[in-house]
Amino acid sequence: MDINIILAEIDLEINNINSPENLEQFRLKYLGRKGIVAQLTATIPTLSQGERASFGQQVNALKNKLSLLLEEKQRGNSANNSPRESASFDIGMPGIVQELGHLHPLTQVTEEICTIFNRMGFSIVEGPEIESEYNNFTGLNIPLEHPSREAFDTFYLKDYSKMLLRSHTSPVQVRAMKDRKVPLAIIVPGRVYRPDAVDASHSFMFHQVEGFMVDKGIRFSDLKGVLEEFSKAIFGKDIKMRFRPHFFPFTEPSAEVDISCIICKGIGCSVCGRKGWLEILGSGMIHPNVFNHVGINSKEYTGFAFGMGVERIAMLKYGINDIRLFFENDLRFLRQF
Ligand code: DAH
Repeated sequence: MDINIILAEIDLEINNINSPENLEQFRLKYLGRKGIVAQLTATIPTLSQGERASFGQQVNALKNKLSLLLEEKQRGNSANNSPRESASFDIGMPGIVQELGHLHPLTQVTEEICTIFNRMGFSIVEGPEIESEYNNFTGLNIPLEHPSREAFDTFYLKDYSKMLLRSHTSPVQVRAMKDRKVPLAIIVPGRVYRPDAVDASHSFMFHQVEGFMVDKGIRFSDLKGVLEEFSKAIFGKDIKMRFRPHFFPFTEPSAEVDISCIICKGIGCSVCGRKGWLEILGSGMIHPNVFNHVGINSKEYTGFAFGMGVERIAMLKYGINDIRLFFENDLRFLRQF
């Protein structure tokens, strides 16, 4: 038996194999107990000393080639795919679709809020989450004895007692008023931190949007007009708005803003605690002491500021009753937005 002829036959046969049964027949023919390789091996002792070594090597090479071909054919990735294997690839089958993600509901609401103010001419500015005690409190006229400055109410950095995780986005007022030139109309989205125990309405981390405008002759009525435009854009045209007197150290006068309850339209229900009104933000006219800290002449310039919680706005807008849902990343919740 001439090994070169055998090799040529193998090449022909392997191309014609188109079923597992054919493949098994092929295997038995060559590698079976009485197969061609076994027969060739049996002839080795009958050869002369000089022929044995090179013949033995040829038989071994043949055996290796056969094993390789069989393996390839079994995996179905032989370089010479049989017609039947090619036909089993259905070009009309739907592909593997990669599911598209989308923005988190809080990101969507933050973007919506910013877009509304952007349309009114506000620029979007961001500030750092690690802030100085000065920008977070002192610059905003929050006195040393104010309870919010206690370690109980603010995360201070262990090795830098004058640095903290900002407890609101208001410190960006101080930064922007120092760094930029008046007139200013700025909106500040961002993450804030407070050491609150987590429950349905509290989280140690949440999001706020701060806004402020500074120029000559800015009045409380400008604040009212801007916030009314905002409330209607985000909650609908029929919404009513009211200002309730309040106290914030960085504004004077200060007010909390309520909207008519979006569930009962002001009649009184469990969502608004039978009041007919829902609180949405804090606001006021920027305190002259804040202007003094940043070097703006409070005799010449006036301004308003406001701050709102993004989670609160999103919860009211979508009727969500537990803040923890935003942070658990349960897809059954997230997919609804
Ligand atoms: N910084 C306040 C807070 O976190 C929210 C706030 C209230 C911001 C009144 C303001 C403002 O700019 O005028 O509770």
